[in-house]
Amino acid sequence: IKKLPIEKAVRVAPPMVPPPITRKHPARVVVEMETVEKVMKMADGVDYMYWTFDSTVPGTFLRVREGDTVEFHLSNHPSSKMPHNIDLHAVTGPGGGAASSLTAPGHTSVFSFKTLNPGLYVYHCATSPVGMHIANGMYGLILVEPKEGLPKVDREYYVMQGDFYTKGGYGEPGLQPFDMKKAIEENADYVVFNGSVGALAGENALKAEVGENVRLFVGNGGPNLVSSFHVIGEIFDKVYVEGGKLVNEHIQTTLVPAGGATMVEFKVDVPGDLVMVDHSIFRAFNKGALGNIKVSGAENKEIYSGKQMDAVYLPEGSAIQSVDTGAAPTPAVAQNLEEKIKFGQRVYEANCQACHQAGGVGISGAFPPLAASDYLNADHKRAANVIVHGLSGEITVNGNKWNSVMPAMLLSDNDVANVVTYVLNSWGNKGGEISPEDVAAQRK
Ligand code: HEM
Ligand code: CU
Repeated sequence: IKKLPIEKAVRVAPPMVPPPITRKHPARVVVEMETVEKVMKMADGVDYMYWTFDSTVPGTFLRVREGDTVEFHLSNHPSSKMPHNIDLHAVTGPGGGAASSLTAPGHTSVFSFKTLNPGLYVYHCATSPVGMHIANGMYGLILVEPKEGLPKVDREYYVMQGDFYTKGGYGEPGLQPFDMKKAIEENADYVVFNGSVGALAGENALKAEVGENVRLFVGNGGPNLVSSFHVIGEIFDKVYVEGGKLVNEHIQTTLVPAGGATMVEFKVDVPGDLVMVDHSIFRAFNKGALGNIKVSGAENKEIYSGKQMDAVYLPEGSAIQSVDTGAAPTPAVAQNLEEKIKFGQRVYEANCQACHQAGGVGISGAFPPLAASDYLNADHKRAANVIVHGLSGEITVNGNKWNSVMPAMLLSDNDVANVVTYVLNSWGNKGGEISPEDVAAQRK
């Protein structure tokens, strides 16, 4: 095997992308990526527990050259509750790298692949339940530049659409859990660019100057919806259809499939606000699929006479109200049963709900229900044991068998007592209460 020069992949946060590749030879490109589970803002007053590549949605943009060998290091942050992996559509090989990269919290996996095909490709987590990992934000783009490079432009940006499914409807405040039922029904509450409502709008708008050529790398993480990508006030001079080699010209709206990508290029000729949308238009004005490109520079009355009414297209009236969540920190010890249940609910939402789901309904085939669970009700102290030590091996819950792994949860005795008490007193369970001392006894 020929020894390739080694280089580290350049990494920048979206919506920026690394600079074009100027070398004329293949290299061994080392990518170090980290999966992180993190609460971030979905919209004003609305938080969401995102699962991410590199703490952003989409994950950082990878830029390599046709013929390179990519040495991929995937690390799963020790604070993660879930294992994760990566399937890069630019990989020729089983699962796009998924099986070779399955990584437990606090571990790193390494695998390599050669970039045989130039183009713009989606990457995503492919850990079971796959839909849930993607729905929580685990996707991004990798560009394999053709050997001869892409035509030079003045600006490049990274825009990636995704659909999100939350227990509460659009704009309902608080930390919103993932809703599996809505996801299966493809009934999205949020459809957004770059992970949240307004991520590319207003102050976060992309920028360009009159006369410049702009290239957008546009991806669609899904999990479900196909994007009708359109920029209000522009015509794409070029569209690299589906991110491949075929170039179409003079395009108004281009389809970006779920798990697909495209590159669009256009010259901006007049100043003003361009508006990126998914032209399935209720998604733009009612679900968040809206971003801006602010173009500054001199007017050109010949191309456009003026009296530009950008305001017409801004999502006035659809804005979400700001809400002060102002949640007080949990006091150390609950004074009574009612308080225990209340504190326990917070512990549940932050630590358990990602798997056992809102309402404790679980996910068929992956996570057992805690609602009306005979296993739970049979032995309250065993439940505390499951939380402090984790659980693996076959169990039967309400007549169904589960054979999976629950991680040990790093929680205080108080938090465990509170969460068990909360669960016991919720969703058709039989009631009851355990104390921090009961939990401490399980740790022995
Ligand atoms: C099993 C509670 C967090 C995945 C269980 C059981 C309980 C429980 C009581 C026993 C079965 C049942 O009653 O249905 C909790 C609580 C949590 C928590 C209170 C938060 C403090 C998690 C997380 C995950 C998870 C974060 C996913 C990463 C599982 C799995 C099983 C299980 C897979 C079945 C294990 C097996 O098949 O042996 N959990 N859990 N749990 N939990 Fe959790
Ligand atoms: Cu994942």
